[in-house]
Amino acid sequence: MKEAARQARAENHVIGLVPTMGALHEGHLSLVRRAKQECSRVYASIFVNPKQFGPNEDFAKYPRAFESDSERFAELGADALFAPTLEEIYPSGFSTYVNVEGIGDRLEGRSRPGHFRGVATVVLKLFEIAQPDFAYFGRKDAQQVCVIQQMVRDLNLGVQIVVCPIVREPDGLALSSRNAYLNPEERRAATVLHRALEAARAELVGGRSDAMQVQNSMRAVFEKEPLARLDYAEIVSADNFEPTVRVGGTSYILIAAHLGKTRLLDNMLVETNDSGQLLFHV
Ligand code: PAJ
Repeated sequence: MKEAARQARAENHVIGLVPTMGALHEGHLSLVRRAKQECSRVYASIFVNPKQFGPNEDFAKYPRAFESDSERFAELGADALFAPTLEEIYPSGFSTYVNVEGIGDRLEGRSRPGHFRGVATVVLKLFEIAQPDFAYFGRKDAQQVCVIQQMVRDLNLGVQIVVCPIVREPDGLALSSRNAYLNPEERRAATVLHRALEAARAELVGGRSDAMQVQNSMRAVFEKEPLARLDYAEIVSADNFEPTVRVGGTSYILIAAHLGKTRLLDNMLVETNDSGQLLFHV
């Protein structure tokens, strides 16, 4: 992979990288399509990264579908698929980690200690190997994007991070490889994340921008859904992921919740334009 990337750079190709853990869905594929529009070489990667899973999390049972994944990447015109083994990425004696302090410690970082250390470490390695000009990530994992952008700035990586919209099922559920874990009742209940975001939107449209009030409207949606357990429903400033008291400027409304044993994420980006109008990206 490194040799191919070196050669592509020598030939002045614009390289786009789409990092994934496989078990592909339309969310992943949307990143490849975007990369194809903007880059002359598109590399995808599949690596289920053990270092971003906690000891009691789902690393062992994370869905793996290598054959069909590689076909789908090929159909979309990816120029290479990098699917390293565990030993290639973490040979024995591996001991260097990237720790993005501050933003990496809150919300997901707090609920999943060590998660972002694992993400940042593997993404830096993927950047080193595939030498991308552009790297494509989904806004579905908004905090992950913010952590990676911070790492890129702090370490002068010179990779342009492209953030792509959330792809959803028709009923609003954000696509996720983990949706495959849901039984039919949990699947029906899982729309609660999106419904709570819509409740938050309704509060904001109604002129109520107090963060506590907006949070309470989301909690109320969860209280009516016995199959779901809310982990957090938080409102943060988009630049630094610090909690805000009022929704204003550019904010993220972030939700994490358990449906049975499955943990799901969702979010909505709220922007205020120059004339004070709210713009919602769900
Ligand atoms: P994974 O969960 O496989 O996701 C790969 C990419 O797809 C991420 O950038 C994620 O945000 C994006 N994605 C997932 N669901 C999406 C959706 N519904 N709409 C749009 N984009 C979506 O995120 C990871 O893997 C890993 O942490 C990784 C970055 C590969 C590092 O191991």
